[in-house]
Amino acid sequence: MSGEKGRLLIGRDPAEAVGLAAECLAEALTGRQGRRSVALAGGSTPAVLYRHLTEPAWRERIAWDRVDWFWGDERAVPPEHADSNYRMACETLLAPLGIASDHIHRMPADSDDLSAAAAAYERKIREVVSAGREGVPSLDLVLLGVGTDGHTASLFPGTSGVTEACRLIVAHEVPKLGAWRMTMTFPLLRAARRVVFFVTGADKAEIVARILSPAADPGILPAAGLRQSGAVVWVLDAAAASRLSR
Ligand code: 6PG
Repeated sequence: MSGEKGRLLIGRDPAEAVGLAAECLAEALTGRQGRRSVALAGGSTPAVLYRHLTEPAWRERIAWDRVDWFWGDERAVPPEHADSNYRMACETLLAPLGIASDHIHRMPADSDDLSAAAAAYERKIREVVSAGREGVPSLDLVLLGVGTDGHTASLFPGTSGVTEACRLIVAHEVPKLGAWRMTMTFPLLRAARRVVFFVTGADKAEIVARILSPAADPGILPAAGLRQSGAVVWVLDAAAASRLSR
């Protein structure tokens, strides 16, 4: 499928979907010279992809030492916390690959001053990542998941970050979680060279079908907010794709 929602790649099972997602990441990180930048997704889904990328075939295939690592969003917890997206990515991907600490840019969502911390993270991204259109940094790859409520990163329905049009990083309260989150906003996500939604499991089938329907409203389903970008690829397993019309 192509068109306004971008490309759709469906793996027959989770393992094949992981392979498809890994290929998308390799495509984004190889080819032209120079440093690369990636924003990692959190949650539970991507861990299997991250572990896959540390296998020998991938270790040799990508110049990992040229990549700067960011996060699309983070919970308001310290880096060692079990819920930390930073901790999950370090354990499953960055530490096994031996990534140098100066290439790892943790999103400081546990700061006492979240507004200042969000602004500082935005400055770091602007410092490291070259600007694309309209002076917005253009990340080489943004990896995203979706929640069953249609959120992506920490852009949850009804949160202030969904409508943010200027700042690239915000911290906002997520009422349904009763917690604060820090997240990339659409101006930054839309400037990425490649956005890969990696979604698996039958529990996501309904929301994937709703997000990918032409009538999807980003105000209700934030993950639909990236559909105008030709840079978007959806990588699904058959279970997550099972409600899509043929
Ligand atoms: C987070 C993620 C979030 C995640 C979705 C899906 O911090 O939770 O960044 O956007 O991608 O909630 O989470 P699962 O992969 O656990 O279903």
